[in-house]
Amino acid sequence: MPAFMEPFRIKAVEPIPFPVPLERRRALADAGYNLFRVPARAITIDLLTDSGTSAMSAAQWSALLSGDESYAGAASFERFEAVVRELTGYDHVIPVHQGRAAERILLGSLLQPGDVSVSNTHFDTTRASVEAAGASALDLPVDLPAAAPAPFGGDISLPQLQNLLQGPDGSSVRCVILTITNNAGGGQPVSLDNIAATRELCDRHGVTLLLDASRFAENAYLVTERDPGHAGRSPRDVAEMTFALADGCWASLKKDGIGNIGGMIGLRDAGLARRCREQLIAVEGFPTYGGLAGRDLDALARGLQEVTDPDYLRYRAQSARWFGAQLLDAGIPILEPTGCHAVYVDAAVLLPHVPPHRLPATALANELYLAGAVRVSELGTLVFGRRSPHGGPDIPAPRELVRFALPRRVYTKSHLEYVVEVAASVAAKAADVPGYRIVEQAATLRHFTAVLTPD
Ligand code: F0G
Repeated sequence: MPAFMEPFRIKAVEPIPFPVPLERRRALADAGYNLFRVPARAITIDLLTDSGTSAMSAAQWSALLSGDESYAGAASFERFEAVVRELTGYDHVIPVHQGRAAERILLGSLLQPGDVSVSNTHFDTTRASVEAAGASALDLPVDLPAAAPAPFGGDISLPQLQNLLQGPDGSSVRCVILTITNNAGGGQPVSLDNIAATRELCDRHGVTLLLDASRFAENAYLVTERDPGHAGRSPRDVAEMTFALADGCWASLKKDGIGNIGGMIGLRDAGLARRCREQLIAVEGFPTYGGLAGRDLDALARGLQEVTDPDYLRYRAQSARWFGAQLLDAGIPILEPTGCHAVYVDAAVLLPHVPPHRLPATALANELYLAGAVRVSELGTLVFGRRSPHGGPDIPAPRELVRFALPRRVYTKSHLEYVVEVAASVAAKAADVPGYRIVEQAATLRHFTAVLTPD
């Protein structure tokens, strides 16, 4: 069993709630059996997301105090801009309040109706911004061999990208987006070779290459771990090499910015940056704060420097690997290899008696809550399934996954041991876990608000 140890000690703590079984049953029923609607005060271990849930370091908390809250030209912005420029090499640095604001502004400024955006996998908010611009989003994830776990399962399919660019629709492709790491595709990394080859194809066809760099440091670390050609490099070096290959990026800094809020756009193209800033002023704020407080920019600048620390990143990867191995031992089928920000579990394998339209991933997530007030997120038919245009059962999602996300520097090994115990108790009575039926749902993004009932 791989061992690991947290490379930090704890200076500030907050108590966590321990609702008893009756309180858990009530909280879930009151929430319409939808974990998004369960209040955080009824959760013991919250693995819903790694976004905005990080613990800041003592240095980040102290950076908050030096925040300059001037409306225009704040010193906090200058410090943030310098850190992002040094990391990415991009001249134009535009702060925003979170990742999806960056996507809406950048993709809205770049794409025209009829354009095509191609990606290893567009995250759902990215796809929404592409479509809001009147363009279409095409995912070309690499074909993975079923037999062996692939080290770079986040890659884009180069043969498919090449065929598209050379084919009759090639001229509609406006940008290629590489999401590093590929969150919707299981948190797997993209290799530097894949990014370099994508760069070449983009150059040959005059296409803009952008990174969704929300988890850039974790991607860089996994490159040093999995690509023998880069084994001796530091994650920071690999991150710089990655940014150097692209025309620009955006990031939700709620992930590898180790911030509770924040995002950014980085660009080489002055014209595109000018159009983005015009949009920014209309919807986010002046270009030197972009919807954030000066103190947020200072904390993020510090977080962006801390996040490439090799000891921290090694712990991140090791803790996910250790947690995944423990879950496997407990009879929980996980996706391998594990990445850094989450462990993904295949609910369809654990609950074969629950058909897709009875939401096996939701069923597993809800059971984990009932068993121990552990909250995870469903990435199955509730999130990715589509309503049949002819009525009747939903068109199922390709996979029924449950994501155990790992907030940065928040939970210790003993918290994860508790989650493993809870998961083992669910696995032991998997055959009795009920499916669910949707009672009420919104037209889009239904998983956030849907009301369900056990079935
Ligand atoms: N891109 C990726 C790859 C993401 O994972 C997310 C958010 C975003 C963009 C949007 O950023 O939330 O700051 O607006 N992912 C969160 C998650 C919500 O739980 O994986 P945001």
